[in-house]
Amino acid sequence: MVIQGYPDPGDGLRLHLNENTGGCSPRVLEAIRRVSPSDVSTYPSYPDAVRATARHFGVDPDWVLLTNGLDEGLLMTAVGHIARPRVHDAETIIPLPAFDPYPNATAAVGATAVRVPPGPEFAFPTQAVIDAITPRTRIVFLNTPNNPTGQLIPVPDLVRISQAAPGAVVLIDEAYIEFGGTTFLPELPRFPNVLVGRTFSKAYGLAGLRVGVVIGQPQALDPVRAVTLPFNINGVALAAIEAALSDTEFLPRYAAQVRASRDKLYDACRRLGLPFWPSAANYVLVRVGEAKPFVDALAARKIHVRDRSKDPVTAGCIRITAGIMEHTDAAIEALEDVMATRQGR
Ligand SMILES: Cc1ncc(COP(=O)(O)O)c(C=O)c1O
Repeated sequence: MVIQGYPDPGDGLRLHLNENTGGCSPRVLEAIRRVSPSDVSTYPSYPDAVRATARHFGVDPDWVLLTNGLDEGLLMTAVGHIARPRVHDAETIIPLPAFDPYPNATAAVGATAVRVPPGPEFAFPTQAVIDAITPRTRIVFLNTPNNPTGQLIPVPDLVRISQAAPGAVVLIDEAYIEFGGTTFLPELPRFPNVLVGRTFSKAYGLAGLRVGVVIGQPQALDPVRAVTLPFNINGVALAAIEAALSDTEFLPRYAAQVRASRDKLYDACRRLGLPFWPSAANYVLVRVGEAKPFVDALAARKIHVRDRSKDPVTAGCIRITAGIMEHTDAAIEALEDVMATRQGR
């Protein structure tokens, strides 16, 4: 039997989807409690939330499209720029390793994904991406910090790629930028072909409400807007947006905790002899060798992490979410236990 949704790992600590392990701002829950019967019985109205989001990002409201999670924004970018109007022989460029929805959205609109392998130690392959651009390229999917490596693409490299692809849309996915790195947003006025993707799922802790944002100039954004359903965000999620943005202490406090958690995970990996990649995001990629039994052993200790071994580029690797310290401590304890068992001690 096929059941909708991502497989639920069951009881235990969820460190497999890069969620906010500390929850969300109390202001969000207060705003949700204030939702009225007519807020529920009427179709949602977007202007206030769009204006608040635009103010937050320092752009005009017509540069903002709220989406049902950034996932929807990625799919609608593909639909808006490839499926309608139908572009034949369209290609997207996807540097590896990559977030699954990039190839999935590409396939959904009948386009071809041109995958570009990384350099040594997951160095971002800027020149190879530029070399892969052709007149058939419709979308270049860039992700900084990268999921799953946590590596950043320097802004000058983002600029070079954007300049090299004037006939395509360059989608810069900044889902984790609040945890480290420099946003492309200040460059956006110079680039009518660039869209920046952001989400409330990670740093703001609203994954369950599904709110993402696609930001860009009308030339790139309007085709996406044209195919996005008019009531794509529900009223409860809308109520949460302004509340989340108004709590200016929540995000820096959580981001600081994530940085401390990352450092502690690095220390543990060094102690345990596990290679890892320093990350700018709220997760760390760790090479464990045979990943499946390792992930299962952690799950048996109620710690759920992501097995990245299906992707040949990250063979033998797991990805561990870095959240609040208490959860990181529990993860490290389980890692130590699994390593001790593995070494037969
Ligand atoms: C790189 C990246 N982009 C986009 C998303 C989508 O986030 P959401 O649909 O929850 O906004 C995720 C979620 O894991 C992600 O890792």
